[in-house]
Amino acid sequence: MGSLSCSAITSLQVLVGILNAFFKTQTPADLSSPAKLRDGETFDFIIAGGGTAGCVLASRLSEVPDWKVLLLEAGGEEPLEADIPAFGQNLKLSALDWQYWTQPQNTSCGGEACQWPRGKVLGGSSTINDMIYNRGNRLDYDHWSDLGNVGWDYENGVLPYFKKSEDNLDPDIARDIKYHSVGGYQSVGRFPYTDENVPNIIKGFQELGYKRVDFNGPHVTGVMHLQATQYKGERRSTNGAYLEPVRRLRNNIRVITNVRVTKILIDKGTKVAHGVEYVGEKDRRFRGKVYAKNDIIVSSGSINSPQLLMLSGIGPKETLETLNIPVIKDLKVGHNLHDHIGAFAVNYFVGNSTRPNSSRDFFRDATLYSRNQRTGPWSGIGSLSVVAYTNSRYANKSMDYPDIQFSTIPSVADSRDSGFCDVDVAVPWCYYNRITFMPAVLRPKCRGYLTINSSDPFARPLIYPNSFCDHQDLDVISDGFKAAVKLADTKVFKDNDFRLDKTPPAGCSHLQFGTDDYWVCAAIQTTHSNYHPVGTCKMGPPTDPDAVVDPQLRVYGVKRLRVIDSSIMPVITSGNTNAPSIMIGEKGADIVKKSYGIKL
Ligand SMILES: Cc1cc2nc3c(=O)[nH]c(=O)nc-3n(C[C@H](O)[C@H](O)[C@H](O)COP(=O)(O)OP(=O)(O)OC[C@H]3O[C@@H](n4cnc5c(N)ncnc54)[C@H](O)[C@@H]3O)c2cc1C
Ligand SMILES: *[C@@H]1O[C@H](CO)[C@@H](O)[C@H](O)[C@H]1NC(C)=O
Ligand SMILES: *[C@@H]1O[C@H](CO)[C@@H](O)[C@H](O)[C@H]1NC(C)=O
Ligand SMILES: *[C@@H]1O[C@H](CO)[C@@H](O)[C@H](O)[C@H]1NC(C)=O
Ligand SMILES: *[C@@H]1O[C@H](CO)[C@@H](O)[C@H](O)[C@H]1NC(C)=O
Ligand SMILES: *[C@@H]1O[C@H](CO)[C@@H](O)[C@H](O)[C@H]1NC(C)=O
Repeated sequence: MGSLSCSAITSLQVLVGILNAFFKTQTPADLSSPAKLRDGETFDFIIAGGGTAGCVLASRLSEVPDWKVLLLEAGGEEPLEADIPAFGQNLKLSALDWQYWTQPQNTSCGGEACQWPRGKVLGGSSTINDMIYNRGNRLDYDHWSDLGNVGWDYENGVLPYFKKSEDNLDPDIARDIKYHSVGGYQSVGRFPYTDENVPNIIKGFQELGYKRVDFNGPHVTGVMHLQATQYKGERRSTNGAYLEPVRRLRNNIRVITNVRVTKILIDKGTKVAHGVEYVGEKDRRFRGKVYAKNDIIVSSGSINSPQLLMLSGIGPKETLETLNIPVIKDLKVGHNLHDHIGAFAVNYFVGNSTRPNSSRDFFRDATLYSRNQRTGPWSGIGSLSVVAYTNSRYANKSMDYPDIQFSTIPSVADSRDSGFCDVDVAVPWCYYNRITFMPAVLRPKCRGYLTINSSDPFARPLIYPNSFCDHQDLDVISDGFKAAVKLADTKVFKDNDFRLDKTPPAGCSHLQFGTDDYWVCAAIQTTHSNYHPVGTCKMGPPTDPDAVVDPQLRVYGVKRLRVIDSSIMPVITSGNTNAPSIMIGEKGADIVKKSYGIKL
C-alpha cells in the first residue's frame, strides 16, 4: 500500500461512518424534523440552542413531569462520525460547524481573519470540540463572586454542580471525593489509548520542574495526562450524555433540529418574553411562532446568543437604531468578548521512533477502532492528551493561579514523511510529524466585541476579537514561548529526537529566532484562537453597567427571559470552557427550578 492521499482519508471517513452504523444506530433525523412542530404551539419552557448548556438544560428541566419543554436547535442530529475522538480535527469547517471567521485586525492572525469554529449540531460545540475536560481555577469563580455574582463562588456555588454532572471513570482520580464523583450524566476519563509521545512530553515537563497534577482537583500548576468527555473511546457530547438517555423516555420533552430561532417575542408594554419565531434552517418554508408559559432560555452560545438578543431588540441602542430594530432594552450585548489567545510559534518535529505513520497503520487502526471495543489511536486525540500550566512574569507564583496553559497540538509539517497529507484539516489527530506547543494567554487584558450589521437573522455577526491589543498579553504569550523552547534541552526530548523547528513564520524571517521581537512578531503572525469565546452576555450585579444578565441569569429589563450558556461568564475561566459551560447549564437549571418553587 502506497501513501494515502487526503481524498482517500476523507472518503474513508465516510466509510467509517457506515461501519459504525453496524455497531450503533443513529437517532433518525425525522424524529426531530421541523415538520413535527406546529405553528402556535405552547410549551412551559423554550430553549433556543441545543449545545453544551442547552442539552443539559433540556434534560434537567424535563425532570419536572408537569413541564413541557421545547428544545430548538439550528443544526441536525449528532452524526456517528463525531463519535471518533481522533476525527474531531476533521469536524472543523464541516457541515457541523457554523464556520465563523473574525473581522481581520492588524494585531492577530497575520492581519487576516481568524477561524472561529462553533458547533452547529445537537450537542453544539461539545460535539465538535477536542473533548478536554477542564474546570478552570477555583479563584476564577471566587473572582466572579467578588464581582457581585452572589452564589457563584467555587466551594459552595459551582463545585457541587461540577460534581453533580460528573461520572468519573478513572479510579485514581475519582477517589478524591472532595473534588470528584461518579454517577452523573457526563462521563469523564482518560482515553483508552495513550499516544506514544504523551509519556515523553510529560517527562519533559517534569524535567523542567512541573509537578504531576489533577488540575480539576486541589492543585493546578503542573502537568497532567488529561481526562476527556468520553466513554470507552467514544465522544460524549452533552447530547450523548444528557439528552440521548432521556429523550425517548419522557413525553414532556420535544427536540426539534434544523430550525433557527430568529427572534424572541417580547411584549413592548409589559416587557414580558412570551415566545419565539423560528425558521427552518434547510427549508425556510417551515416557519412560525411558538409560545412559552414560563421562561424563554437563550442557549445559543457566545456568538449566537448576543446576535439573537440584538435581533430581538436587546442590545446597544445605537446599533439597534441604525438597523431599525425597535429597542426593547439598551444593554451592552456583544461587549466583553474574550477568548484564550494562543499562537503556533513553537513547534517540535517528532523523532522517527515515536512518529505515527498513517500510511502504514491506517487500516490496522480502523480495525482496532471498529472491532476491538474502540481501542487504538482513533480512540484518542494524539499528542493533545497533555495539558501543562505555568506562570508568566505577571502571575503570583505562590497563588497556584497560573496564567499560561500549554496544549500539545499534533500537526503535519509539509509532507516530509510519506503517508501524510499536505493539508492538515483532513488528517486525524493521531497522525502527525510535528507537535505545536501552544501557550494560551489565560486571563487576557484585551476585550473585543461582536455586533450585527443587518436585521436579517441569517446574516453573520461581525466579530472583532482585539487580540493582543495590549502589550501585556504579548508579554504573557512570549513568556509561554520561552518556557516551551526550554523543553529542547531536556534529556527525554534529546533522547527521543524531538527537534525544535526554527523556521520563522511568514513575516518574521528578518528577526532572529528567540529574541523578544521575534516572539512578538510570531504571536501576531500565528495567532490561534483556543475556541473559547465567552462573555458577550455578561453576568453581573445591577451596579455593573456592562451586565446583560443578573446572577439568576435573567436578562435585565425583560421578564421571563434568561441566557444560560458560556456567554454569561463575566471573566473567562483559566482553562478550557466546556466543563464550565456544563456547570452553567446544571446550575442554571436549578436556578430556574427554584424560581418556580420546585423542591431541589
Ligand atoms: C473546535 C472546538 C474545540 C474545542 N475544544 C474544547 C476542549 O477540548 N475542551 C473544552 O473544554 N472546550 C473546548 N471548546 C470550547 C467549548 O466546547 C465551548 O466553550 C462550549 O461548548 C460552549 O457551550 P455553549 O453551550 O455556550 O455553546 P455551544 O455548545 O456552541 O451551543 C450553542 C448551540 O446553539 C445552536 N444555535 C445557535 N444559534 C441558534 C439559533 N438562532 N437557533 C437555534 N439554535 C441555535 C448552535 O447550533 C449550538 O448547537 C472547543 C470549541 C470548539 C469549537
Ligand atoms: C493597527 O490598526 C490601528 C487602527 O486601525 C492603528 O491605529 C495601528 O497603528 C495599526 N497598527 C499597526 C502595527 O499597523
Ligand atoms: C529519520 O528519518 C529520516 C528519513 O526518514 C532520516 O533522514 C533521518 O536520518 C532519521 N533520523 C534519525 C535520527 O534516525
Ligand atoms: C511509513 O510506512 C510506509 C508503508 O509501510 C513506508 O513506505 C514509509 O517509509 C514509512 N514512513 C516513515 C517515515 O517511516
Ligand atoms: C502573592 O500571593 C500571596 C499568597 O496569596 C500573597 O501573600 C502575596 O501578597 C502576593 N504577592 C503579591 C506581590 O501580590
Ligand atoms: C455587513 O458586513 C458584511 C461583512 O463584513 C459585509 O459583507 C456586508 O456588506 C455588511 N452589510 C451591511 C448591510 O453593512
